[in-house]
Amino acid sequence: MSSELPAWLRQRLLAAGGSVPFVTYMGWVLHDPQHGAYGSGRLQIGPRGDFVTAPSLGADFAALVALQLVAWLEALPPSSPERLSLVETGPGEGQLALDLAEWIAAERPELAQRLELVLVEPNPGMAERQRLQLQTCPLPTRWSSFADLAAAPVTGVVLAHEVLDALAVERIVADGALWRRQRVTLHGDSLRLEPGEPLEPSQLAQLVPLGLAEPGPQRPSGWCSEWHPGLEPWLRDCGGALRCGQLLVIDYAQEAWRYYAPQRSNGTLLAYRAQQASADPLQEPGAWDLTAHLCLESLQLAAADSGWRPLGQCRQGQALLALGLAERLHRLQQQPELGLEQLLQRREALLRLVDPAALGDFRWLAFARGLEADNALPPLFAREPQNT
Ligand SMILES: C[S@@+](CC[C@H](N)C(=O)[O-])C[C@H]1O[C@@H](n2cnc3c(N)ncnc32)[C@H](O)[C@@H]1O
Repeated sequence: MSSELPAWLRQRLLAAGGSVPFVTYMGWVLHDPQHGAYGSGRLQIGPRGDFVTAPSLGADFAALVALQLVAWLEALPPSSPERLSLVETGPGEGQLALDLAEWIAAERPELAQRLELVLVEPNPGMAERQRLQLQTCPLPTRWSSFADLAAAPVTGVVLAHEVLDALAVERIVADGALWRRQRVTLHGDSLRLEPGEPLEPSQLAQLVPLGLAEPGPQRPSGWCSEWHPGLEPWLRDCGGALRCGQLLVIDYAQEAWRYYAPQRSNGTLLAYRAQQASADPLQEPGAWDLTAHLCLESLQLAAADSGWRPLGQCRQGQALLALGLAERLHRLQQQPELGLEQLLQRREALLRLVDPAALGDFRWLAFARGLEADNALPPLFAREPQNT
């Protein structure tokens, strides 16, 4: 079903024979440089935009994440080059990058002297807004791609906050004993989701470790979910850009048993626009964000296959408490310079970050490469909460 089918999409579908795999459709409507929701820069992140992310709730999030990033950067081996890099992929509005840079410049000036900020953003419309946002950034800043960085890989830390959930997904549909690939098909002036060809053996092989060798009796015909064919290439490209250091992935993610639970019969895919969520990925193509949760095991397997060593993982609530969120909340009351409105707003933002029914359920996953086990500092966030 679909209203408002844009002419560009109609033409593209006709050129493809009237039907494409869902993964192709999702790539177009999000990342087409002219028409895609991110590619064109149409999507706005923040309380007045299309959806909220943790960095858009205020700078406290960056201040807590910075403690982890700085601990890793400062513990890199003495043989590291003079110049270190903090790489943020998928920086959205650029708010997190700016808040991190400002915190590091103010709190760790010596590190800031040898640190550059590198933004990896494939969507030109988003990169344009990031350039405006980061005009006052106190760290030397450049935009690059993993492919360009691979020519001279950096040493440092890569941060991927809510970026992997924007990768295009394949949707799989149960059909008796078969898995079929979902397709987006043109019918007159509207779009439909339809089961397409059976999965190829190489695709099926990726579902086996997730407990999905076949749909089985619990997943009746029409049961549908997602998987991320783009994860491994992304992790491989990211790894090629980093000579040595850590990767911190922060995203919606669930274990395979929850992700592919039989009762979740329509997957995790959601569309967002103007703070509204919808389960219909076909409405107003190119105007809505489309996002799917990550499957933890898929991410961990793809990371291992692309040369990343796991360092630890936990929920965001636990990570932020370990990094001092409760103490930060407590200290807010002792800052008389904050007006009541600001105090209440920051308190609410901090509480939202650890709400177990929402942002607190996000996962933090840390990986390393190019570091001997002795040099790969375990994540601070995977330790028990501190009392300081
Ligand atoms: C959901 S937004 C998150 C923005 C920001 N990290 C935040 O949390 O506010 C996703 C961002 O990732 C970018 N993006 C999408 N695909 C990407 C890719 N393959 N590599 C890097 N960035 C990507 C989008 O353009 C956008 O900036």
